[in-house]
Amino acid sequence: MRLRGKRALITGGSDGIGLAIAEAFLRAGADLLIVGRDAGKLEAARQKLTASGPVGTVRTLSADLATSPGIAAVVEHVKAAGRPLDVLVNNAGVAYLVPFETVSEAQFEHSFALNVTAAFFLTQGMLQHFGTGASVINISSYFAKKMIPKRPSSLYSLSKGALNSLTRSLAFELGPRGIRVNAIAPGTVDTAMRRKTVDNLPAQAQAELKAYVERSYPLGRIGRPDDLAGIAVYLASDEAAWTSGGIFAIDGGYTAG
Ligand SMILES: NC(=O)c1ccc[n+]([C@@H]2O[C@H](COP(=O)([O-])OP(=O)(O)OC[C@H]3O[C@@H](n4cnc5c(N)ncnc54)[C@H](OP(=O)(O)O)[C@@H]3O)[C@@H](O)[C@H]2O)c1
Repeated sequence: MRLRGKRALITGGSDGIGLAIAEAFLRAGADLLIVGRDAGKLEAARQKLTASGPVGTVRTLSADLATSPGIAAVVEHVKAAGRPLDVLVNNAGVAYLVPFETVSEAQFEHSFALNVTAAFFLTQGMLQHFGTGASVINISSYFAKKMIPKRPSSLYSLSKGALNSLTRSLAFELGPRGIRVNAIAPGTVDTAMRRKTVDNLPAQAQAELKAYVERSYPLGRIGRPDDLAGIAVYLASDEAAWTSGGIFAIDGGYTAG
């Protein structure tokens, strides 16, 4: 029980990578607050998480983190709980993989609002509610560092690059308060987000992408959400007491080459 007694907040904890991290945190003994927009999805996730017997507690909160009121509602919720927060996972994100020349202002604003601004102000809002030795984990992406042919990523890569810079600068700025800040940069992971961006490609482009992925990943496959869980538990735990400012590539070796 590496996270026994810890209280963790996971944004986007109702699906994909966030849900897999929630499952692992719960098994490790943490009490959870998971946040997403869709209350039905949150409740389904809560039931799935607690189905396998007595574990830590799971609470849910519906909020749109791409908005200031949504961020404020989450901060208020944590404050009202009156118990320090030990782990914040800034996981909710959006990927507009669209050509540079077609990126709209609305897409730009939404991308930054969720991928950058939410992580920035949620972390800021939690400062007075963090417990001793708190851990912030930002979910970045390999796209901050390495691109994929025919997958235009200027906006997404820019937002995740900004999240990496925030991770490093906050590690420096918050370290003296005992707060650790790290990022996990997953490779391609089979989630609803990935399927959404792939399913709308023409059949030929889907086939090319599949072939590219198969020959590009040294470990021969894309990720599953639970491939990210182990590192998240480590970064949340006291075993990582001297780990801060890291951007950890968990990507089957994709960015090694
Ligand atoms: N999948 C990949 O290949 C991949 C690769 C590298 C990095 N990542 C990063 O990993 C993170 C998770 O991605 P995923 O693939 O697991 O996504 P996902 O399966 O689509 O899940 C996204 C989660 O975020 C929540 N969410 C979305 N927009 C939100 C908003 N405005 N406010 C609050 N919650 C919101 C969703 O719930 P609701 O829809 O109910 O709000 C859901 O719980 C993202 O930051 C993504 O950029 C993903």
